[in-house]
Amino acid sequence: MANLDYRTLPFWDSNLDVEARVADLLKQLTLQEKFSLCAGKSLFAMKPVPRLGIPILHMSDGPHGVGALGSHLKKMTYFPVGICRTATWNPALAEQYGRASAEEIRSIGYQMILGPAINIQRAPLCGRTFEYQTEDPYLNSRMAVAAVRGTQSVRVAACVKHYAANNQEFKRMRVSSEVSERALREIYLPAFEAAVREGNTWSVMACYNRVNGVYGCEHRDLLVSKLREEWGFRGVVVSDWYAARPTSSTETCVKGGLGLEMPGGGSRYNQKRLATAFKANKFTEAELDSNLTGLLRVMILTGLLDDPKSLPAGARNTKEHFEISRKIAEEGIVLLKNEGPLLPLDINSVKKIAVLGPNVARKNGFGGGSSMIRAAHEITPLQGLKEKCKRKVKLVKNPADADVAVVVVGLHHCMLSHWDMEMYDKKSLAIPPAQVDLIQQTVTLNPKTVVVLVSGSPVEMDAWLEQVPAVVEMWYAGMEGGRALADILFGGVNPSGKLPITFPKRLADSPAHASERTFGGADKVFYDEGVFVGYRHFDARGIEPIFPFGHGLSYTTFAYDQLEISPAPVSGEGPVTVSLEVTNTGNRAGAEVVQLYIQDVEASVERPPKELKGFQKLFLAPGETQSATFELNLRDLSFWDEAANAWKAESGTFAVYIGSSSRDIRLQGEFDYTS
Ligand code: BGC
Repeated sequence: MANLDYRTLPFWDSNLDVEARVADLLKQLTLQEKFSLCAGKSLFAMKPVPRLGIPILHMSDGPHGVGALGSHLKKMTYFPVGICRTATWNPALAEQYGRASAEEIRSIGYQMILGPAINIQRAPLCGRTFEYQTEDPYLNSRMAVAAVRGTQSVRVAACVKHYAANNQEFKRMRVSSEVSERALREIYLPAFEAAVREGNTWSVMACYNRVNGVYGCEHRDLLVSKLREEWGFRGVVVSDWYAARPTSSTETCVKGGLGLEMPGGGSRYNQKRLATAFKANKFTEAELDSNLTGLLRVMILTGLLDDPKSLPAGARNTKEHFEISRKIAEEGIVLLKNEGPLLPLDINSVKKIAVLGPNVARKNGFGGGSSMIRAAHEITPLQGLKEKCKRKVKLVKNPADADVAVVVVGLHHCMLSHWDMEMYDKKSLAIPPAQVDLIQQTVTLNPKTVVVLVSGSPVEMDAWLEQVPAVVEMWYAGMEGGRALADILFGGVNPSGKLPITFPKRLADSPAHASERTFGGADKVFYDEGVFVGYRHFDARGIEPIFPFGHGLSYTTFAYDQLEISPAPVSGEGPVTVSLEVTNTGNRAGAEVVQLYIQDVEASVERPPKELKGFQKLFLAPGETQSATFELNLRDLSFWDEAANAWKAESGTFAVYIGSSSRDIRLQGEFDYTS
């Protein structure tokens, strides 16, 4: 055995089909080698198998580029955070981000990137709201599938995380999310399901928390019944870092479907424990194999066992990647308010601009927790404005002495203040009182004030919103964010971002923050709101948000027309086609995100007044008209019927709402469905 020429073994033959290689590799491994592969070697690396020449598989964090920790602090492209990427409502950009970040990780010889992070933004205080995508399961699914496809197109494994119902940081390694099957199916699981069924994700990260009492890493119903058996997942389930520790036993993890325990020094999956449990017949080799084949498949798919020269090229910090980062910022920054309109500013008539606020020169890439990036560069709002204004507009400090004032406030990734941080939930929706004072003083000195919010989550605005004519949500917009912001303020870029989350007026309006029972209390958190998460709740209970889901202004105007729904009535399984026309009625090119919501008007269970089931971003020249067409399938009409344990579409009338936001409905129609 010592002289085994492993290169002659079939699994090394890259001309063979993937499944044949996986089967052969599994056959060659001894039981001990299998045990050793079940846990990492160190923080971001798996163990090698020297006897078979299998090298180490490496990974690093996403989801905003290649994470600093796993890449040994290498300088990388810093992409806008997940909530900003999703605010583009442009899956093509999510795909470009996925591919670009995968090329970056490939360039350092790694095989897996730990992202995208796709937990639902259930509670606006959740510390990782900035990293996650949205409160809506449909938008979440579209953006997740695109990111996974982009990543895997260059043979790097995506790892969608954190599966499932990991919606707060407080007590994250202990808390049990007490959630109904209906809410899981309709709200919390769809993006994971789509990432598997449509994106064919090669890996999934199991969460820290418990779901209805069972830890994510040993949750057989989630990992085996749903993921593998129902959705057809063929990759590997990776534990979140140290998430297997609090589980009940080695065998419950094996039987539960956990493939790889991370990081190194495994607790449940250290070799000794695995061997002891195996000897005691606590699990079978077949059970172990069914978890392990997913891992072996990832090795083959990512080219770990192929000639590196035959793999798609890696590259980092390229002009193209910086451009993608900038494009996401340009399309993800949201114009929330624009009275007057004050914006865009005319570079030829503005002589002096006052630029102030605590976030004006702050860099954000290297913060927030595991997603932190050591950015190759980061253009702050101040730098972006300086570049733009050079030799044209004077930057001053005193708002009274300026034509326009720009105040850059908001949050940052801060462990002490508990703002937009992994491991800590925010304490409130407030921005610091000193910032409120600054906004109020500025607008008193100069009514032409623009507030730019830098944050990864909604903040309260009650104290100042009415006085301020223009507000821009910049998020953490990546390394090119300052340039994108300056272009938006001066009109070089026409904003087209839309909110992927409701901005509530006050915390108590959010259903997750109803009481300690529903957030931040004991070891169980009760998802009492069921499927009424985000705008589903605000619509159903008639609560006015500050800015609704899907909201975002443009410098041009759009007219909606010609709604057609066919066939009507609808029966059986056939899709319903909805089409309409949108015209750019202004004199600037711009992009509009057309949003399609439906409502099951008479249902046997309470259903949300509106559910997003389609969207399309149209890029329109002045005067141009384009049509948008959507297909609704049976699943789009369905709710999860807990009694039947199945999706159910009920006969009756369905309303169709076409909007520029969830509360700016431009066209309305209906169809009758007969099951
Ligand atoms: C985070 C994961 C991350 C992992 C590795 C954990 O604390 O929850 O999202 O991928 O660390 O850095």
